[in-house]
Amino acid sequence: MLEKFERYPLTFGPTHIEKLDRLSAHLGGKVDLYAKREDCNSGLAFGGNKLRKLEYIIPDAIASNADTLVSIGGVQSNHTRMVAAVAAKIGMKCRLVQESWVPHEDAVYDRVGNILLSRIMGADVQMVDEGFDIGIRESWEQAIADVKAKGGKPYPIPAGASVHKYGGLGYVGFAEEVRAQEKELGLAFDYIVVCTVTGSTHAGMVVGFAKDGRERKVIGIDASCTPAQTKAQVLDIVRSTATLVELGKELSEDDVILIEDYAYPVYGVPSQETKEAIRLCARLEGMITDPVYEGKSMQGMIDLVRKGYFPERSKVLYAHLGGAPAINGYAYTFRNG
Ligand SMILES: Cc1ncc(COP(=O)(O)O)c(C=O)c1O
Repeated sequence: MLEKFERYPLTFGPTHIEKLDRLSAHLGGKVDLYAKREDCNSGLAFGGNKLRKLEYIIPDAIASNADTLVSIGGVQSNHTRMVAAVAAKIGMKCRLVQESWVPHEDAVYDRVGNILLSRIMGADVQMVDEGFDIGIRESWEQAIADVKAKGGKPYPIPAGASVHKYGGLGYVGFAEEVRAQEKELGLAFDYIVVCTVTGSTHAGMVVGFAKDGRERKVIGIDASCTPAQTKAQVLDIVRSTATLVELGKELSEDDVILIEDYAYPVYGVPSQETKEAIRLCARLEGMITDPVYEGKSMQGMIDLVRKGYFPERSKVLYAHLGGAPAINGYAYTFRNG
């Protein structure tokens, strides 16, 4: 589906799929859980889902003769860390707007984890006191204008690399990769669980899996806590990406499955249940999930298994999208493990 698009390799190649035997058994053994380890996809600053997206965006950035990647996220954004890493790797400058998206007050929140790594990689990090919003932000537009005013050539990458014309392509590629791995493994996944916030990961998967009729088997777990806006953004990206790859099939709102029940109390703040899911997965599988994204989708998957949402003998693929560095910003939350 992606042959006609240029790709700048930033990842190691196909990501590993592993069976989560102990977690599956702990939850009753009726459903087989697997994880696709997008969190281990690259040597670039701990990797994660943004690299698949950026692989299809960077050729455009290079062709534009830009000298500075300009992006935005929360203080502990994984996305901005990935943009900083890619800028370093391709020899561009990097300007990052880090907004106060999370009402979380760990003493070192703005010094550790993702933001620490972005600073080490040489990004020009600007703190902005604005709350959570996945849409286009004035602070980002100002940063783009500022780079221009200072004689630079900015290349804008929106939050999560989502609302970009090529933002959905990387996760179309994920679906193609899963299909090839299914052949090798001699199995087929009945469901794919994905954490959804800015939307292009989920949207790319919907388009990619629509090719074999599995678009409604992609189960998005909202972590934005603004699900109406997130769902609308996923649908927009589904439509534009389907057109771009010439899917030849109309996709509608009903094809975007977004479960809203696990994002509480608010974006970036883990509930008691999220913390329990993080501990359970870590203690049974040695797999680290974070309090902002993957901890919430892990919580969702565990709860859905317990509730019997997946029919018996289903094979469920959890897309582990990365994000572990942010856990350093929650040192007090996990001070006793
Ligand atoms: C670790 C992690 N998981 C999930 C997501 C959600 O992906 P998306 O923003 O494409 O919906 C993100 C980024 O926002 C992330 O960094």
